[in-house]
Amino acid sequence: MKLKAIILAAGEGKRMKSRLPKVLHRVNGQPMLEHVIEAAEGSNVSECIVVVGHGADTVRESIPPHIKTVLQQEQLGTGHAVMMAYDHIDEEGLVLVLYGDGPLITEATLNDLMNYHIEGKYGATVLTTELENPHGYGRILRNEDNELDRIVEEKDTSSEEKLIKEVNSGIYCFAAKALKEALPKLQNNNAQKEYYLTDVLSIIKELGQRSGIFKISDYEEIMAVNSREQLAEVEEIMRRRINKRHMIKGVTLINPDHTYIGKGVIIGQDTIIYPGTIITGKTTIGNDCIIGQNCKIEDSTLANNVTVEGSTIISSSIDEYTSIGPYAYLRPGSQIGKHVKIGDFVEVKNSSIGDYSKASHLAYIGDAEVGKHVNIGCGVVFVNYDGKNKNKTVVEDYGFIGSNANLVAPVIVRENGYVASGSTITKEVPRGTLAVARSKQENKEGWVERKGLLKK
Ligand code: UD1
Ligand code: CA
Repeated sequence: MKLKAIILAAGEGKRMKSRLPKVLHRVNGQPMLEHVIEAAEGSNVSECIVVVGHGADTVRESIPPHIKTVLQQEQLGTGHAVMMAYDHIDEEGLVLVLYGDGPLITEATLNDLMNYHIEGKYGATVLTTELENPHGYGRILRNEDNELDRIVEEKDTSSEEKLIKEVNSGIYCFAAKALKEALPKLQNNNAQKEYYLTDVLSIIKELGQRSGIFKISDYEEIMAVNSREQLAEVEEIMRRRINKRHMIKGVTLINPDHTYIGKGVIIGQDTIIYPGTIITGKTTIGNDCIIGQNCKIEDSTLANNVTVEGSTIISSSIDEYTSIGPYAYLRPGSQIGKHVKIGDFVEVKNSSIGDYSKASHLAYIGDAEVGKHVNIGCGVVFVNYDGKNKNKTVVEDYGFIGSNANLVAPVIVRENGYVASGSTITKEVPRGTLAVARSKQENKEGWVERKGLLKK
């Protein structure tokens, strides 16, 4: 059976007071619309169509290229928005309708909704929940059979109907054929002069099919964001949800309210994460790691038993028993081996560092291939940029680079090569050789006294 999703994302979102289209505001580091697309694609849906309007170009640019979009020039209501996707609605199969500003919906609920719809042989099924304060939402009116009679918008409710606590989430499952038949019959004779998608359910009934109600207890899933305040609420819910999932799987979060983990991040058992840490993108962290306070880790892979403290790691990989930081900065393309130490104020970029090597403090390692058991002293600079090109430095196994040395690339320090502290190396250092590239020390005896500077 063909399952499609139409995601409504044309609204302006006035209350956000933003130049950015509402659906592009981020929750847990990702645009809200992306969360909705991911939930749909994670369910049994095979194709998503996004209805864009306000900021259409910006929205189109920020979604994956395989997602189709249709334009709703004027926002004449939710029913009108779905009409814009009319040509994409098939003669058979199912159509889900979702909102681009409701990022908390899960794929599990979408699958449950579709299964409920199929089992009940409904023409349309609406996802509902009960709210303590239903103000602003469309209310669910049930008939004698406890099935859907109709949905009344807040602005069209009588005072009695206002008391109903069961609300319309705005998420539906339609039989494609029924939706296709009903849409052209939609009218806008209501308080807001809008084409209400909710009326489609009544039309489907008039056409002889039943409408189902799939009620869930977790109202959080249907929360839509209309303001920055709600954006923060939704952010918190999503954070709690993700963090709980990791804790259930055996990860310790010292303070889950202050730990930010992206949806796609994988973390192994008995890893401990300290507060203030942000882990995002396609990051995988192994077992028994300690991720210290205030780390930022993005699109990176950490093996088991890695320790990171107060550091930034981007698009890099770190092998087991290695320790990073505090205050280290691993920029894209850093591949750090096993049992390595990258200490404070060390920056690594586009470089590989072999097992058991150390750069304990204050160094810059860029565009380099560093072997095993190498020691990089304090203040060493890999001078990789000549003002035009980036050049490569190689330090072979057991190399020893003394403090405050410059390795001017392109250059090679061969196996067991030593570089004297303070040297500026521009030529190859052969195997087992000590390179000293600094002027000899000259002592001027009695100079301080002659200048009248002696204190004692
Ligand atoms: C809608 C429902 C209401 C439900 C509520 C749940 C209707 C008539 N009402 O009301 O029953 O309780 O959602 O949140 O459907 N959109 C477009 N084009 C438009 C209008 C809206 O793309 O012309 C999009 C918006 O960007 C938004 C979504 O549809 O993502 C909902 O629109 P909104 O105006 O917020 O609907 P409500 O009035 O809240
Ligand atoms: Ca509205």
